[in-house]
Amino acid sequence: MSTGSAPVTPLAHFGQQYVTNGLGRQLEAVVLRGEGSYITLEDGRQMLDFTCGIGVTNLGHCHPRVSAAAAEQCMKVVHMQCSIAFHEPYLELIKRLLLLMPDPSLDSFFFWNSGGEAIEAALKIARAATGRQNIISMQGGYHGRTYGAMAVTKSKTGYSEGFHPLMPGVYSLPYPFWHQLGMPASTPSSEISAACLSQLSLLLSQQTAPRDTAAILIEPVLGEGGYVPAPPEFLRGLREVCDREGILLIIDEVQCGYGRTGKQFAIEYSGVRPDIMTIAKGLANGFPLSGVISRKEIMDKLKPGSLGGTYAGNAVSCAAACAVADVFKEEHILDNVNARSKELFAALNAIRSDPTCSPHILDVRGQGLMAAIEFASPTGTGPYDRFRRADAPKDLARRVAKRCQEKGMLILTTSVYEVIRFIPALNISQEDLALGCRIFKEAMEEVVREG
Ligand SMILES: Cc1ncc(COP(=O)(O)O)c(C=O)c1O
Repeated sequence: MSTGSAPVTPLAHFGQQYVTNGLGRQLEAVVLRGEGSYITLEDGRQMLDFTCGIGVTNLGHCHPRVSAAAAEQCMKVVHMQCSIAFHEPYLELIKRLLLLMPDPSLDSFFFWNSGGEAIEAALKIARAATGRQNIISMQGGYHGRTYGAMAVTKSKTGYSEGFHPLMPGVYSLPYPFWHQLGMPASTPSSEISAACLSQLSLLLSQQTAPRDTAAILIEPVLGEGGYVPAPPEFLRGLREVCDREGILLIIDEVQCGYGRTGKQFAIEYSGVRPDIMTIAKGLANGFPLSGVISRKEIMDKLKPGSLGGTYAGNAVSCAAACAVADVFKEEHILDNVNARSKELFAALNAIRSDPTCSPHILDVRGQGLMAAIEFASPTGTGPYDRFRRADAPKDLARRVAKRCQEKGMLILTTSVYEVIRFIPALNISQEDLALGCRIFKEAMEEVVREG
């Protein structure tokens, strides 16, 4: 494994020159190979990957079963456009997904390529099915970078800055996240949920009337907004409001779904039935594929041709996704998530009690292998952030992530807060998880000591 920063290679330098500045990048290097929880760089360095390409290569890089299924499909049919005919992997995938749905009512499928596209489709379906226009999304929510998805994204202005006007008819509701609400992290979840549900009542009586409101869109675990699981009572409250007012509940499982939280879908922790659900990322372990799923009665309100896309539901991606579903079952992936999750949270909580680190940690949170640690910040999000701590080191999250990188581990920050997120492969071994936790602890201790 690598230690220390390495010079930028000529190929990476070429990339810096010719790839748009509109793309940010954490690592100025070229990755040549990926295998399991490790990637290998052009200069030969090996790195432990705790990012999984932002929660995508959940069975590790190049899982042999998934890659073989894709290769095999490449020799049968690569592209069979979904508005021309069915292809076999598309239908095989639906057969597998039907068995996994968090509610049996979810029985009508449309596949696209990216998570953002799935969100676009979900918004169109909600508007068409209800005849209403407005969408309520969550403050802190992230749903993608295309225009509709960008309009419902409220995690950072950086995603929409300079690109206005956005799609109209979008309203925002506070996510049940203590820091955003200015409530201490120790606030009982019932109190946090009640505060947000009361804001929903106000929103529906002050800004967007129920008869104008098509859908409420929420990630059951806030992803780019800071890795915050929504309390089940909040999600159940949303369900009740939606049922009462004829509003559709769209559950975005793009990042938190497909085993990441220790259940097949994060919404299962609440028992809430989605009207529409979006999936992507880990679905095909790196092959571009997303899905939007709803009840036939809702989906069938759309006219033929109103959904589609040249590459939508690509045959190779669907074949890979079938293999992913098979591997989940045969390799007992959810059992590994839950076993490794206990170890990850034990390690993070031990760091939280460590005298060097403890004063600078505001929160350890998450579900399954979707975990985060939030550090204190001397500036917070501004002068009214009541959780600012004057003595906290500056930029802790970014600096700790960089130090981990220098020690041979890739890890990501997230949100407008000082948050590091842990998204290791769902089949990560006990040893690799322990190694990652050790690297993180060392990195944090070093950075904190530097002040
Ligand atoms: C919850 C959620 N929804 C939607 C998206 C957008 O997915 P994509 O980047 O594939 O468009 C993301 C991406 O991170 C996400 O986390």
